Amino acid sequence: PKWPQETSGELFVSPGKVDEVRTEADGLQSLEVTELDLQWIQVLSEGWAKPLKGFMREKQFLQSQHFNCLLDNDLSNQSVPIVLPVSTGDKQRMEGRPAIALRYQGVIKAVLRNPEFYEHRKEERCARQFGTTNPNHPYIKMVMASGDWLAGGELEVLERIVWNDGLDQYRFTPSELKNKFKELQADAVFAFQLRNPIHNGHALLMSDCKRQLVERGYKKPVLLLHPLGGWTKDDDVPLKVRMAQHQAVLEAKVLDPEHTVLAVFPSPMMYAGPTEVQWHARARMTCGANFYIVGRDPAGMPHPDTKADLYNPQHGGLVLSMAPGMPQLEILHFRVAAYDTKSKSMAFFDPQRKEDFDFISGTRMRTLARNGENPPTKSSRRSRASTPHR
Ligand code: ADX
Repeated sequence: PKWPQETSGELFVSPGKVDEVRTEADGLQSLEVTELDLQWIQVLSEGWAKPLKGFMREKQFLQSQHFNCLLDNDLSNQSVPIVLPVSTGDKQRMEGRPAIALRYQGVIKAVLRNPEFYEHRKEERCARQFGTTNPNHPYIKMVMASGDWLAGGELEVLERIVWNDGLDQYRFTPSELKNKFKELQADAVFAFQLRNPIHNGHALLMSDCKRQLVERGYKKPVLLLHPLGGWTKDDDVPLKVRMAQHQAVLEAKVLDPEHTVLAVFPSPMMYAGPTEVQWHARARMTCGANFYIVGRDPAGMPHPDTKADLYNPQHGGLVLSMAPGMPQLEILHFRVAAYDTKSKSMAFFDPQRKEDFDFISGTRMRTLARNGENPPTKSSRRSRASTPHR
């Protein structure tokens, strides 16, 4: 009862009313939004954050920050704020108006109804969301550079957000994904969020998850391979390259293409660790996933100054396993996977024989690639017993 199946949570103007709303929007005060804002508009409009009906109002923002949940209907997990920053000038220009048009590169995308302006307490927000206010954290940098006010309100989005980057064909709404799972006659859907190229550690998590589901009696478990497609930091691999890599992995049948749906998750990346992984999971619940895979240091990154893990790599999985407001989603928490030099394959780390494991993180893979070196293969590699680093 908490998640009525019949409501998609979509915030699109019904097709018969698009012209009317567009005409109305042409006459409204308008606000130019950033690419990041538009990514959040896409997330909201497609219903990933339901029951949110638009950018957070102050009460919703406070619920998200303090409880990691929205209390609007029943309790629903919403660990990250979805907010629209505006400058003082824009606030003054728009305050008191019943509606505002939101433009991106000059084109009207949406109407924000009954807007409410409240203070963007950036430092406090970041301290709560990221557990740090380090100005060199890449998302915090964007928060700090954004407007001093937040505009909350209900959104009516004129049409689907597309990016014309050759990848829109992979951008499915939660409703479309649910239909795909139905077509595939899935009796279980397990979701995998990733922002890095697929490595063998990822593949091990996905194949072991499938094995567990089959063992539990599911006949047709389907994998939602769901790379994050919104903003990522500069040294992450671009989406286009990752999608080509994911396609190649499917074609090589490293993952079973018959029982996999490859799609792009429209959210921006925040690098907020255990806080963000809750968002990653609950959004996948919205599109019909029943199981969510989590491993080592989800949504983590190196500390901007010390380069050590910003978050305890175990905390993401532990927090997610306990997170409130995500009924209908079972968390499958995996240990860190590493190259086992004894079995000469990827395996879950066994602390009893830690000297046998060689850790390969996304960061290390990128470093190897940059230096033209190869990852450990069957034949060669000395074992290293260091702790894993990203
Ligand atoms: S994330 O930002 O999307 O979490 P990444 O794409 O690296 O980053 O990871 C996707 C998922 O794989 C996350 O659940 C993460 O915990 C898990 N993961 C990545 N590398 C490993 C590993 N070596 N062992 C176990 N889990 C891993």
